[in-house]
Amino acid sequence: MSSIEIIGGKQLKGELKIQGSKNAALPVIAATILNKGISKLKNCPRILDVFHMVKILEELGCKTSWEENTLIVDSSKADVTCVSEDFVRKMRSSILFLGAILGRFHEVTIAYPGGCSIGKRPIDYHLNAIKKMNVTEEFLQEDGSMIHCYSDRIIGTDIFLEFPSVGATQNIILTAVLATGVTRIYNAAREPEITEVCSYLIGAGARIRGLGTAYLEIEGVKQLQDVEFYLSPDRIVAGTYMAAVAAVKGDVLFTHTPVRHLDSTLHILQKVGCRIDVNSDQVRVRNFQRPLPVAVLNTKPYPGFPTDMQSQLMTVLTLAEGKSTILEEIFESRYQNVEDLTKMGARIQLQKDTNAAEITGVAQLHGAVVRAHDLRGGAALVIAGLAAEGTTIVHDATYIERGYEDICRDFLALGGDIRYCSENRLDS
Ligand code: EPZ
Repeated sequence: MSSIEIIGGKQLKGELKIQGSKNAALPVIAATILNKGISKLKNCPRILDVFHMVKILEELGCKTSWEENTLIVDSSKADVTCVSEDFVRKMRSSILFLGAILGRFHEVTIAYPGGCSIGKRPIDYHLNAIKKMNVTEEFLQEDGSMIHCYSDRIIGTDIFLEFPSVGATQNIILTAVLATGVTRIYNAAREPEITEVCSYLIGAGARIRGLGTAYLEIEGVKQLQDVEFYLSPDRIVAGTYMAAVAAVKGDVLFTHTPVRHLDSTLHILQKVGCRIDVNSDQVRVRNFQRPLPVAVLNTKPYPGFPTDMQSQLMTVLTLAEGKSTILEEIFESRYQNVEDLTKMGARIQLQKDTNAAEITGVAQLHGAVVRAHDLRGGAALVIAGLAAEGTTIVHDATYIERGYEDICRDFLALGGDIRYCSENRLDS
């Protein structure tokens, strides 16, 4: 695991291009299995989670290559239907291969994904839905660690999701694209990443209606064809860097931003006092004062405020002029930064009964040795280090490389004093 050393207090200035979207790339990479041919994915982020999904594609018999930020996948010779435990344990998004492999081969064996630091993250919505499509599911081992699903014919049907789960919606779509008949998903997730994977599939010849809404209709087709697809910029990476301007202060122009996917994030950044100017796909964010508090900030399914931005806003609100309350409504344990931020001088009270985090803003954080617990929490600790007085070391920074191409390169370009350092730079 790598570490990051930050010397805080430098305002952020300059211009930054936003990378391609991790959470669009992962489902689209899984979906390339459904097309027995060539898929060219442009603007694909070069991040650990993408490299991990590419390794799985190769395990399944696909050929892959890169041309700068274009990932080329040839799935014509794919013939393996098993995803090993090792792969799924390392990255739970591998579970998206469940629907893709099942959709193409009518059979799949895959490890049951474990939880992670933000929650148990079960897959009951995925399995309950797929079983309704004439698919048999059995657990291969007593401990239920491997799932085997198979069907002689996958049949489209009506599926009512009890919660608009992103992954479950994606796995149902992947199972339905080559099925017999029509699959209708009610209460589907509306995240932009759902629209992305549907747009990729439609480009390859799939028949899907209702993009962007909570009702999706997938009419099964016989096969897909070669396709080129341009992945959108990453709305969470964009939001992370904009939140850094709110906490650290400065004036930054972000280019290649997914402005249409940022409504709730831009609204909150204005609420904490940032000046936001939008022009086509460029967003200028300015802030030269202490952030303002937010009485109550709830995380919600899209288009509500994204849970993946919650840790970053917690960092901003620890510096606000007053009290704020965060209500994390998507994951059951996504306050894992509280201890580390407290070490840096933040004042945060967790209310177990309401799953609320009550924050009393302080004028200044001070540097400390802290530890990343997950991808977005790690990025939020980097923001805290950039805002703090003195030196901060963020250990286990490899979590951050799962979703950010190079967070040090990006903040250095904006005038931050930040670099990777060895794990034992300072004992924590
Ligand atoms: C996707 O995870 C994202 N990951 C997450 O981003 C994001 O936080 C999440 O959606 C919510 O927006 C990718 O896109 C790769 P869910 P996913 O299914 O699909 C519960 C990041 O940092 N649930 O919408 O796993 C679940 O436990 C990551 O980029 C069930 O109970 O999210 C959670 O509490 C973190 N049973 C809630 O629903 C199920 O079968 C939302 O999960 C499925 C989910």
